[in-house]
Amino acid sequence: MPVSESLSSLRWNQDKCLVEVIDQTLLPHTLHWIELADLDDYCHAISAMQVRGAPLIGITAAFGLANALARDPSTENLHAASRSLLATRPTAVNLRWALDAVIAYVHELDPAGRADAALARAQALRASDIANCSRIGEHGLQLLRALRSAGTLNIMTHCNAGWLATIEWGTALAPVYKAHREGIPVHVWVSETRPRNQGVNLTAWELQRAGVPCTVVTDSGCGPLLREGAVDCVLVGSDRTAANGDVCNKVGTYLKALAARANGVPFYVTLPESTIDWHCPCGDDIQIEERDTAEVLSVTGLDNAGELQALRLAGNETAAFNPAFDVTPAALVTALVTEHGVVDASPAGLARLRAQISSSSPM
Ligand code: MRU
Repeated sequence: MPVSESLSSLRWNQDKCLVEVIDQTLLPHTLHWIELADLDDYCHAISAMQVRGAPLIGITAAFGLANALARDPSTENLHAASRSLLATRPTAVNLRWALDAVIAYVHELDPAGRADAALARAQALRASDIANCSRIGEHGLQLLRALRSAGTLNIMTHCNAGWLATIEWGTALAPVYKAHREGIPVHVWVSETRPRNQGVNLTAWELQRAGVPCTVVTDSGCGPLLREGAVDCVLVGSDRTAANGDVCNKVGTYLKALAARANGVPFYVTLPESTIDWHCPCGDDIQIEERDTAEVLSVTGLDNAGELQALRLAGNETAAFNPAFDVTPAALVTALVTEHGVVDASPAGLARLRAQISSSSPM
């Protein structure tokens, strides 16, 4: 069951036999669904961040590969389309994970059967993402219950790790939604998340729709809140988690982790198994996406006529640097919250999780 209403970030239109997604670049001002009709539409939607968030990027790419196979099911096209999708964004490992899952499912099949099989696999990945996020929510809820004393529980989050970043529920916001449903009074400090403002634009919008009290704060305003005791815990998502427990997430996460540690505030990272890169030994090995500096040098919002406009902030000659993600060392992470349970962010914790996953996987 979705969080608060019958909305999810990606839906299958049975009549048109295509995928529709919410164009997240238009939120919070306009809720507009777009149709993804061909591979170019899929690649554009991911690279232009009409869809974003590690799990949603992966599921979208899986449907994109199925779409490409419906046009040309050859082995050559299977790999060419997969390469195009993989090139859209480099950091979230869910992209590669989802493409590999589809390729593994169809490559041995006769080409004539590949498109249907790929679509079925993409649908299954979508369904399992919903179930996994719900489980993350249950495990995270137990942590929130334990943190609760009298009064409202204040949670800080960064970027958007809600249902817009997954299919339903989200990762970091799933425990918040479950706590709210249970009647626990929660309030969320939403960090604005410059330069693309996923906090203001997406997380605040999501929380408001669900009736969860929230307050937007500038990224640099989060440190003082953590120092003043206004935060009971920080909950964030992840785009790639290394085998040693280092966590790569939206740029700005690391500063929050430092401030949380300095002030004794628990810092939890929520993620599905698909976000763990078992081949990546540590966070330094993760490729950090560098995006257009225009995102830093300008700001986008509604003008007085209600039109979405980008306004230049900086002078013409101003240089900028725009890393989209950062790495938080495992030592700063209180625990990782996965669909399989809560584990230590450490090589041993990850190894135990891996053993648990392989012992429970169907043979
Ligand atoms: O650049 P984005 O908006 O795709 O970055 C998203 C994030 O960093 C999220 O925190 C992360 O993907 C976790 S989403 C459940």
